[in-house]
Amino acid sequence: MINQEKQGAEQTDGQREATSSGLPIYFAKTLAGMERLLKDELVELGATDLVVVRRGVEFGADMSTLVRICLCTRFAIRVLRPVLWFKAENTDALYEEATKWEWGSVMNPSATFAIDVTAHSEYFTHSQFATLRLKDAIVDHFRTSSGIRPNVDRENPDVRIHLHINQNQVTISLDASGRPLARRGYRPIGAKAPLSEVLAAGLLAKAGWTPDIPLYDPMCGSGTFTVEAALWADGYPIQWHRRKFAFMDWRGFDEEVWWDVRDDLKSERQFVESTIHTSDKDYGAVSQTRAALSNMELDGRAELGRSDFFKLIPRDDSGIVVINPPYGERMEVDDLDAMYSAIGDRLKSHWAGFSAWIISSDFDALKRVGLKHSSRETMYNGPLECRWVGFELYEGSQEKKGSLAEELPAVTDGVSPEVITEEDSSVVTNETLPDAASDAAEAS
Ligand SMILES: C[S@@+](CC[C@H](N)C(=O)[O-])C[C@H]1O[C@@H](n2cnc3c(N)ncnc32)[C@H](O)[C@@H]1O
Repeated sequence: MINQEKQGAEQTDGQREATSSGLPIYFAKTLAGMERLLKDELVELGATDLVVVRRGVEFGADMSTLVRICLCTRFAIRVLRPVLWFKAENTDALYEEATKWEWGSVMNPSATFAIDVTAHSEYFTHSQFATLRLKDAIVDHFRTSSGIRPNVDRENPDVRIHLHINQNQVTISLDASGRPLARRGYRPIGAKAPLSEVLAAGLLAKAGWTPDIPLYDPMCGSGTFTVEAALWADGYPIQWHRRKFAFMDWRGFDEEVWWDVRDDLKSERQFVESTIHTSDKDYGAVSQTRAALSNMELDGRAELGRSDFFKLIPRDDSGIVVINPPYGERMEVDDLDAMYSAIGDRLKSHWAGFSAWIISSDFDALKRVGLKHSSRETMYNGPLECRWVGFELYEGSQEKKGSLAEELPAVTDGVSPEVITEEDSSVVTNETLPDAASDAAEAS
C-alpha cells in the first residue's frame, strides 16, 4: 500500500490510472489543515493506496467503498474521479485534447453539466476562460458525434466536472457526489454559513471531542458545532438523508451496491447518548439551531436555550467548550478586545476542569483571552485565516489581571441586552424556555 505524504501540490501531477490491484483512483478534497483527519477517516471507510497532498487525499476504492465514503465522510468537501489528464500550455491545446476524449463514456448528450475550476498556472492566467474552452470542447464533441448539444446548468447539473490545472498539467475529473458534501441539508438553501460544516466537524475532532464527552456550544449562532456533534453522536452516516449522488448516473452504476452499502451502514450504526448544551444570547440564533437539528431529525439531541455566556455555569465537572465569538464585522475593536478578555476571565473562573477551544480570525482579540494555550492551529473558514486555540482550564492554574467579566456591559449584537440570572442560566432547556413566550418571561 502506498502511504506517503506529499506537500506543496494540490493534486499529484503524474496521475495514477489505477491502484496496483486495479482499483480506480479518486481524489478527496478537504480544507487546509484537515488532511490527516481525512486520511484516517478514509482508511476507516475502506480506502486503500492513500497519498496525502495539500488539501486532499488520493485513494483507491471499489464502487461500494466509494458509496460508503460519499455517504459517511465528514471531512471531505468533494470526491473526484479523474478521467482525463494531459499536458497543455494554452487553451487551444486544452480544447483539442478535451474534444477528442470519449465523453459519451461518462454522460449522455442530453445531460446537463457544470464545470468547477482550480488553477495554479503561469500558462492559464484566466481560469474562467479555460473553463469556457472545456465547456466548448464537451459541447462540440457531442454536437459532432450525436448532433445533440448538452446544456450547462450551474445550479443543479446532472454531471459536475472539475478542471484542475497545475502549471501545464491539466486534470479533468468527475465529481462523484454532485452537490458538495459540505452541504448536509440542515441549512436553508442559500443561507450564509458563518462556519463551514466541514470545518466545524474538523474542529470538533481536533479539540479531541468524541460523543461521550459533554460538549458546550455557548455562542451557537446557526448551530454548526451543535448539529455536527449531534450528527456524529447519532451514528448514522452524515449524508443518510441524501438520495441523489452524481455517481448514480455514471455508466455501469449498480443500484444493488447502493442498497447493500446502506443496509451495512444501518446495521453498523453506533448511537451514543451524548450531552450537548447549546446556547446563545440571541434568540434568533437559538431558533435557527433548533430548526437545523429538526431538519436532520435530531430534535432534542441538544439542550437548547437562550443564555448569556457571561452568566452561564456549566452543569458538568469536565468536558469541552467550543466558542466561535463574534469577530470584527459588527463590533468596535475596543469592545471586541474587552469581550475576548472577559471570555478568558469567565473560562478561568467558571470552567475549571474543561478544555476550552476558541476559533477566531481576530488574532489581536484572541491574545486578550489572556490564558496560556495548550494548542494553536491555523485553519481557514472560507478565505478567512483563523486560529483554533485550545486551553486546559485547571482550578486556579491561570493568573489573570484586571478581570473584565463583571464590568463588561451586555454585548447586544442588535438584540435586547437582558440577561438571565446566574442561578437560572446554566443552559435552559427547550421545555423551560419555549419560543417567544420565554423571551417575555425572561425579561420580566
Ligand atoms: C460568529 S457567531 C457564531 C457562529 C456559529 N459558530 C455558527 O455556526 O453559526 C457568534 C455568536 O455569538 C453570539 N454571542 C455574542 N455574545 C454573546 C454572549 N455574551 N453570550 C452568548 N452568545 C453570544 C452571537 O449572538 C452570535 O450568534
